[in-house]
Amino acid sequence: MTDVQRLTLPQPIDLLHERHSETIMDRLGQLRPGVVMMSGDNPALPKMPERPGLLDFFRHRFDSFTVNHLLQSARRARENGCDEKIVLACLLHDISVAGLIRADHGYWAAQMIAPYVDEEVAWGVEKHQALRFFADPENGYDYPEAYNRFFGPDHVVPDYLRQSYAAARAHPWYMTARVITVNDIYTFAEGVVIDPAEFEDVVGRHFKTPKEGLGFDNSPVAHMWRSMIWPNNFL
Ligand SMILES: [Fe+2]
Ligand SMILES: [Fe+2]
Repeated sequence: MTDVQRLTLPQPIDLLHERHSETIMDRLGQLRPGVVMMSGDNPALPKMPERPGLLDFFRHRFDSFTVNHLLQSARRARENGCDEKIVLACLLHDISVAGLIRADHGYWAAQMIAPYVDEEVAWGVEKHQALRFFADPENGYDYPEAYNRFFGPDHVVPDYLRQSYAAARAHPWYMTARVITVNDIYTFAEGVVIDPAEFEDVVGRHFKTPKEGLGFDNSPVAHMWRSMIWPNNFL
């Protein structure tokens, strides 16, 4: 159906979206022969390969601000002499913010990557969300100045993140999550553009890309990757 017009809607999870119900009614009111709801490839988005790998999402789906942040964090980890698995963890730590959802991003990101990475990498990615709120100067991590601006100077860290932090602190993998936060930088050097290909080698060695492509391997998280391939599907 090439001549068909396909209508899109914002995702329902953004409950503050202005008059969401009215928007739904508006789209439904537009339906007629030749005008249907979005399903499959949205021509407004870059075309994804049939069997996408991790870096295809970096190139064709993720927002450029977050991609830059992930690539800079990974490069910094590499320059700091970190183990390749840590470099990968830094490359992936905010991956849900890049293409799926911001809220509770550490948890979402950890789930998205869990079938494809070492358990310690996914664990560190989940825990970095909580650890970002707790300084550890002995290991080179101060409370981020940016968080005072993002959340205000009186921000109270919610209980579930305090518990997550306490559990991480007592865990043998604590430093894995801590090193992610050390390399989690917001300073963006002007004009520095990093090609995702810089991490092709690390991804190749430590990210188990399914042969069917991400989104099509029937893993418990395949739907998360499909939702990034087809983010505007009506259902
Ligand atoms: Fe993060
Ligand atoms: Fe980050």
